[in-house]
Amino acid sequence: MTVATKSMSDRADELEMQELKEFENRIVAKSLLYNLADGKLFTGSSETPGPGRHYMMGEDPRLPAMPEKPTLFDFYKYRFAQKPGIQHVLQSANLAQKNGLPEKMVLACLLHDIAVTGFIRSDHGYWGAQLIEPYVDEEVSWAIRMHQALRFYPDESVGYGYPEQYIRMFGADYKPEPYIEAEYQRAKSHKWYMSSRMICVNDLYSFDASVVIKPEQFEDIVGRHFKTPKEGLGNDNTPSSHMWRTLRRPCNAL
Ligand SMILES: [Fe+2]
Ligand SMILES: [Fe+2]
Repeated sequence: MTVATKSMSDRADELEMQELKEFENRIVAKSLLYNLADGKLFTGSSETPGPGRHYMMGEDPRLPAMPEKPTLFDFYKYRFAQKPGIQHVLQSANLAQKNGLPEKMVLACLLHDIAVTGFIRSDHGYWGAQLIEPYVDEEVSWAIRMHQALRFYPDESVGYGYPEQYIRMFGADYKPEPYIEAEYQRAKSHKWYMSSRMICVNDLYSFDASVVIKPEQFEDIVGRHFKTPKEGLGNDNTPSSHMWRTLRRPCNAL
């Protein structure tokens, strides 16, 4: 078969093989955070780079390829945890939509656990809010930041009780850290308190595993309320562009 007659899929296969072959000569340097999760204070790799064998930089052939100008949903599809992962936020947004919440709040539910699903669990409200802050209304990022604290505190006025799931996850006698309590106290008197509380009310923790919601259901809402940069997330120049780039290439050595 000549090059000219090769199909697109043949060429894609060849490219993939070539990338995997090049990967064999790469050293994957893990960030401290990966190792801390295993109780190790260690960064880098036990291997030493040298001629012909260097640290991996650029696209990681083990991960799904991303478009040059990735959108929010490209990250949902190609980087975020899939099951239950994105289904948790998609089903929460679906519930918010069914409950007749404003579009901005449906978006907040769609993004509320973006950190857990796509980035990092610890202090997920704060990381998640920071990631999307440049692209959404301030009320949306505020609500996402605060939902982490509000989840621990009931609000009878909207029928929100302490989550049973939290009793299973953390034990019946778990007490939130003082900074979470302080955040809750501050949030209570804020003008957007109820927006963050609405995330908690629609935060589906025992969702239906047989239902699959597709991100496309929220395409119009995202189009209207999430300012996707024309350069693609990570290629733009905002205070969180570097976070999107890290998600795209999580094992870059530097
Ligand atoms: Fe959350
Ligand atoms: Fe959640």
